[in-house]
Amino acid sequence: MASITIRNLDDEVKDLLRQLAAENDRSMEEQARVMIRAAVEGQLGSAGRIDQIEQTLRELASARGLAPVVAGKIMPRGLSSKRILLIIGGGIAAYKALDLIRRLRERGAAVRVVMTSAAQEFVTTLSVGALSADHVFTDLFDRNDEHDVGHIRLSREADLLVVAPATADLMAKLANGHANDLASTVLVATDKPVLMAPAMNPRMWAHPATRRNRATLQKDGIAFVGPARGEMAESNEAGEGRMAEPLEIVAAIEALLDVGPRPLSGRKIIVTSGPTHEPIDPVRYIANRSSGKQGHAIAAALARLGADVHLVSGPVGIADPAGVKTIHVERAQEMRDAVEQLLPADAAVFVAAVADWRTENSADEKIKKVAGEGPPVLRMVENPDILAGVGHHSQRPGLVIGFAAETQDLLRNAEAKLKKKGADLIVANDVSQGSGVGPSGVMGGDRNRVRIVSKAGVEEWPEMSKDEVAARLAALIAERLKTIVV
Ligand code: CTP
Repeated sequence: MASITIRNLDDEVKDLLRQLAAENDRSMEEQARVMIRAAVEGQLGSAGRIDQIEQTLRELASARGLAPVVAGKIMPRGLSSKRILLIIGGGIAAYKALDLIRRLRERGAAVRVVMTSAAQEFVTTLSVGALSADHVFTDLFDRNDEHDVGHIRLSREADLLVVAPATADLMAKLANGHANDLASTVLVATDKPVLMAPAMNPRMWAHPATRRNRATLQKDGIAFVGPARGEMAESNEAGEGRMAEPLEIVAAIEALLDVGPRPLSGRKIIVTSGPTHEPIDPVRYIANRSSGKQGHAIAAALARLGADVHLVSGPVGIADPAGVKTIHVERAQEMRDAVEQLLPADAAVFVAAVADWRTENSADEKIKKVAGEGPPVLRMVENPDILAGVGHHSQRPGLVIGFAAETQDLLRNAEAKLKKKGADLIVANDVSQGSGVGPSGVMGGDRNRVRIVSKAGVEEWPEMSKDEVAARLAALIAERLKTIVV
């Protein structure tokens, strides 16, 4: 097979390619292959493909907080000139700290790292040092170390201290003011804001001592991101205690440091996410499949662009996004009430997989199996259509966006929903088993391939991560709202 080498690639394209490759865990060559394939197959639109690719690059750059091109190079703006002191605690999640360093540096931050001795059992100072491009600090008393800058300087020469993973032990130490190693001493000595990303076994997280320590730390002004609910790295363990994903931690850092381009500042946006649970009795319910990953990612991406985001979330196993006001609901009617109470707003994005029906009367007591009577007959009634209600509301937001998860006739169904529900845009995705998206499909997975359906036509986006879809949609919303005057 003939092979090609691309020379003289523009610096801006090279920079973006590098970032996209890192985010998708691909080599740059593989990333280029995916993008070229998408362009050739016309996934970026049949008309004006080159324009479309350039537009895509611009949207991605703006969504990522990259400044306009300066002297042929995209200059990172998000966290440039910010100094982060990252404290890595000893837990399996320490491996995610490596990715966190990469994400921070991509955004222009200088990252200095302190590792506890337990952390060094999970990741090496060698890999941490290679990624942070700095000396890694481990010892409180190391007068022979030519890099020794002292714990006071370490703790003060940063704009923000981030503890990831924050173990039960590190939380306990800081809550009680202990300072017996470099990490705990730096935390007690600092006069800078501190963000903790806890990660521990669900039982440790639920322990009254850990709860007490967390409450104390919050009272002391320590910020938290996560933990999330889900599978733990240890086998057969699940529950609340999984460390927030690196991009969620980055979002929390950006929110704390109040940086990044904010084209949506002053805009109020409502987002619905996750499933709804419609009770049959106190222990059983009807629900749609939904992880909440796409909706939560959209809420976080909008908040990163400065929007005042109100997320109405059904029951999900992931953490509330940083910088977003989250309202937790269970049932469709509660979701509708919460959304309507939030009106007026500039925009609303309906990502939730709302159960279409509920039982007419849910039982107050658990329905028992009675010998000889057979299964109960459930009478169902229709739930309110929240999107349609807002799409035709007297206080309708200027921009209303719905989702259409379909397993067949994707475009026809999406176009019908656009009209029927009074939406400006429908983000259509194929959630069928055979969609070919990601290793585990769209539902519950981390990847998505969507089409944006509007009166003006259909725009196809290539397959990308749900975070990427969220960033592009947030950029699109910012663009659209520019033309809507309040
Ligand atoms: N939606 C909503 N309230 C409902 C049902 C759906 O707000 N009771 C919103 C969803 O959040 C999504 C859009 O409507 O933005 C389309 O949802 P979907 O489940 O695909 O469509 P349905 O209207 O339920 O139609 P069908 O089940 O027939 O496909």
